[in-house]
Amino acid sequence: MTAWYGEDLAYIHDVGFRDYALKSAPGILDILKHREIQSGLIVELGCGSGLSTEILHQSGYQVLGIDISAAMVAIAQTRVPTAEFRVDSLFTAEIPPCCAVISIGECLSYAFDANSDAVLEALFQRIYQTLLPGGVFIFDVVVPGHAAPGEVARHFTEGQDWIVLVEKQEDPIQQLLTRRIIALRQVGDLYRRTDEVHFLRLFNMENLAKTLRQNGFQVDITDRYGAFSLPPARMVAIAYKPI
Ligand SMILES: C[S@@+](CC[C@H](N)C(=O)[O-])C[C@H]1O[C@@H](n2cnc3c(N)ncnc32)[C@H](O)[C@@H]1O
Repeated sequence: MTAWYGEDLAYIHDVGFRDYALKSAPGILDILKHREIQSGLIVELGCGSGLSTEILHQSGYQVLGIDISAAMVAIAQTRVPTAEFRVDSLFTAEIPPCCAVISIGECLSYAFDANSDAVLEALFQRIYQTLLPGGVFIFDVVVPGHAAPGEVARHFTEGQDWIVLVEKQEDPIQQLLTRRIIALRQVGDLYRRTDEVHFLRLFNMENLAKTLRQNGFQVDITDRYGAFSLPPARMVAIAYKPI
């Protein structure tokens, strides 16, 4: 078990924060269709609880989901038993030849394990090499704008049997977003508390696009997956491997 997205936060993400994945998937399917990618293997980095995996799988693709959280993968395996899942870091996992690599929900921003420019560039190179010609790499990341400089922003979200309290702040020098999360999940008459701290890299999209281009990709940057506009301070990169 990792210290991030443990059992309770994985459950809460799955039941309470599923819209991001569910609303992103149709736009991603449109991009694939537009590129005439109708079938084949999609590798999903940071597949979480398998919400988008299920949609891709039902649309006729084979899917390999990779996530660092064993608790997330356990939910995903139950949701999509016919897809393949691995508990592994997306930065180091083996990526087999495939027609698309996707990563929905800021996964490439997380700094749970080593995440640096060099690590990211090595990942881009591996994905470029393993993508079939005409393949596509689609992902979103966080960019600055989650809290004003010096501000500690606090909010809470609640569901039927859980509450999540989040404190977030940005470090503009380190280009880092810190989310301190307190999750309370009802177990019988009591609430069980879990604390997690998530560090996420904030990206400059121009630099990110430049790195992708230097590694052979053609790149579009946008703030939406089809009709779904991402919440503020998130951006999408769509990177094509030429035919
Ligand atoms: C915000 S969740 C999004 C999950 C899912 N894609 C969705 O949209 O519901 C971020 C996911 O990224 C995963 N993650 C973060 N860093 C990772 C890494 N280095 N390798 C693999 N998965 C990672 C987390 O475990 C978590 O499941």
